[in-house]
Amino acid sequence: MKGIILAGGAGSRMYPISQLYSKQLTLIYDKPLIYYPLSVLMLGGIKDILIISNEETIPFYKKLFLDGTHLGLNIEYALQSAPNGIAESFIIGDKFIGSDGVTLILGDNIFYGSLDFFQRALNRTHGATVFGYRVTDPERYGIVEFDHNGKAISIEEKPKVPKSDFAVPGLYVYDNKVVDISKNLEPSPRGELEITDVNMVYLKQGDLNVEKISRGVAWLDTGTPESLLQASNFFGAIEDRQGLKVACLEEISLHMDFIDLDKFETVINNMPKCAYKEYLVKIHSDRTK
Ligand code: TTP
Repeated sequence: MKGIILAGGAGSRMYPISQLYSKQLTLIYDKPLIYYPLSVLMLGGIKDILIISNEETIPFYKKLFLDGTHLGLNIEYALQSAPNGIAESFIIGDKFIGSDGVTLILGDNIFYGSLDFFQRALNRTHGATVFGYRVTDPERYGIVEFDHNGKAISIEEKPKVPKSDFAVPGLYVYDNKVVDISKNLEPSPRGELEITDVNMVYLKQGDLNVEKISRGVAWLDTGTPESLLQASNFFGAIEDRQGLKVACLEEISLHMDFIDLDKFETVINNMPKCAYKEYLVKIHSDRTK
């Protein structure tokens, strides 16, 4: 299974900072936003990751993650010259995906809590899985309606009269057919290759699964200054209370056995003196006790 993080976008709601770089570099409490979606892919056991973004932002991601070796990952980068839609990811990522399945996560989507719903989707080898998360404002999202077996019946983008309260978050798991499906899409009236159109093809073929995400999981979609502040406060409160970090990539690499303790130590030694390093030093000493 390959992983793609789509982390460009217009970011118009984040003006003026979006003149400089994409919002995925802004801080959520103590680390850049993109750490959070990357951590989700890693916790799903995905090690081959393509980051797609614009010309201005790719150099920053490269500086942050290099080729990913220090995290036990293979990280590649690709350019999306304009925000032509989410489904363009699979055309840009064609060679990277090869003959594998692919998980796509949007760079501004954060999931916190048990990721069982994601693991169940990763265990499927055929078809597509999208997720359903209950929201109070379904008119703002892609909305999925499903039967009691978890099969989707309908999926609609920003419906005026929603058929359910279940929004489709920016995390999608596909088999390899997604590449061909995306190549055959026509741009929508707003000029984008729509992910909902990809999901509609799977739906028509009877291959679209929906996993409901339980209320114990937080899904945060961070497109505005207000939602970034909310997310920072949320993770600040959790980290402060537990003394454990969320989306700490080095800790996750160790936990997932992507790197061994020696490599972990080398990574820590390369960090400047800071609270993030102190945290990792403590993880290291707990492991060696
Ligand atoms: P959007 O919610 O469309 O947000 P945006 O970043 O383009 O900002 P705004 O709506 O304020 O103009 O995108 C969701 C995520 O997907 C976000 O992480 C950016 C990314 N994205 C791309 O990288 N390329 C695209 O073509 C699209 C549509 C989104």
